Amino acid sequence: METGCRWRGGFCMEVTPPPNTVVIFGALGDLAGRKLIPSLYHLCQRELLHKRSGIIACGRDRMSHEDYREYVRKLPGMEPSPCLEGFLKRLFYHAGDYAEHDTYERLVPAVAEVEHSFGNLDSCRLFYLATAPSLYLPVVEHLAAAGLTAEPCGTQECSQWRHVVIEKPFGHDLESSFALESGLLRFLTERQLYRIDHYLGKETVQNILMFRFANVLFEPVWNRDYIDSVQITAVETLGVEHRAGYFEQAGLLRDMFQNHMLEMLSLVAMEIPVSFAADRVRDEKARLLRSIRPFLPEDFVLGQYAEGNGMPAYRAEKGVAPDSRTETYAAARLFIDNWRWRGVPFYLRSGKRLNRKRSEIVINFKHVPHSIFEPVRERDLARNRLILTVQPEEGLALNLIAKRPGPKLCMGDLTMDFKYASILDTGESMPEAYERLLLDCMLGDQTLFIRSDTVRLAWSLLSPVLEARERMPLRFYPAGSAGPEEADRLLRSDGRSWYEPCEF
Ligand code: BG6
Repeated sequence: METGCRWRGGFCMEVTPPPNTVVIFGALGDLAGRKLIPSLYHLCQRELLHKRSGIIACGRDRMSHEDYREYVRKLPGMEPSPCLEGFLKRLFYHAGDYAEHDTYERLVPAVAEVEHSFGNLDSCRLFYLATAPSLYLPVVEHLAAAGLTAEPCGTQECSQWRHVVIEKPFGHDLESSFALESGLLRFLTERQLYRIDHYLGKETVQNILMFRFANVLFEPVWNRDYIDSVQITAVETLGVEHRAGYFEQAGLLRDMFQNHMLEMLSLVAMEIPVSFAADRVRDEKARLLRSIRPFLPEDFVLGQYAEGNGMPAYRAEKGVAPDSRTETYAAARLFIDNWRWRGVPFYLRSGKRLNRKRSEIVINFKHVPHSIFEPVRERDLARNRLILTVQPEEGLALNLIAKRPGPKLCMGDLTMDFKYASILDTGESMPEAYERLLLDCMLGDQTLFIRSDTVRLAWSLLSPVLEARERMPLRFYPAGSAGPEEADRLLRSDGRSWYEPCEF
């Protein structure tokens, strides 16, 4: 018998990319080991890595191809499968100092050899810079000087593509991001540059677009007439871990708000793109960022974790200054000044070392305009609420008022709860964000990548708060708690509260 929650039919837009050579800089680093190599392996298992594709791993240490293959074999996520040996044979190692031009001159014949032996006739190449951001510009400059990134077709769509992938942070502020961008664009075209925000590769974040624009139900109510407020949360239990060097300079605003939070906000609030083409979607995201009212520091709460629940304070973490004022938590209220959203508050919060790991988008609808259920008043009826859970337990939930079964006339708040896990086949798991993103880089689809104007817009929005940061109060919260009390007060002053799932 058909159960309610299975896929019936559907459309698949997935295609296998052309043969290409993936060159990873920083191949012995954390990102490559934890995410990139396992994701390439999983693509290979799903037959989405073309059989004529090879992978060249670049690192500073000297090692042979065989040594590198052994290193990869032991990485987490490299579970044995019939594809493993074949995948390992496609891996090659290239040692060199990224500052030495010789490294890139030697890379030219190494790439040519892999392309020749696999039959990648068009020399399509993906350069993934899993390195410190300070190396982006020098590496790209060397690659260009060695002739590795030049495309034969200029700015036109090119079947002989050379793509370059970089990860956030894209600069440290508006000025430095501008310097980075203009530097990179001296050697590459915008079409060749893939700026990753891994949140955009998450299934449920992508689903926001399908959900909003492939259903007729939501668009009519997706506006200020029906929506009271929106909350976007991305909190985690982890502290700064071993990343104090980076995080002390960045802080949570740069680490999460400048990118992941604003990206999620754009997808929730943007207008309907004329098509699903990358630039049409990115045009709307940029337009949305342009409509956000300039940020006011007084609408932000910044916090830092103190000792709590047996965990040390941020200031006691390795590599953190004992008097550090770096924020590990931020909450904000912002407004979008356009026809659709005028007056609807958007509340964003993100933080480290909190009591749970959760990313979710909560749409709070307004009360019904009039209650016919005397003596129950409009405001006695719980509002409808839609929750898009990004992680964990990816899914969505809709709260509705419904009659409780029974002879008496009782109403209650009912949750229709859908979890992706319930429709996955046994043994199947949600794909890792990097699988989708790597695949898109190979397919030449930039929809889920950040365009240069968006980077700039996001930095400009954040600038007033970054500039005021030193003067803003820093609220301490115990490690493992729900965050600073002031974040609750921010909403309470508007007569609202943060949505918390039942167990909290
Ligand atoms: C990264 C941030 O971009 O996102 C980290 O640099 C943060 O500080 C991480 O922990 C959160 O990602 P996820 O996928 O675990 O929610």
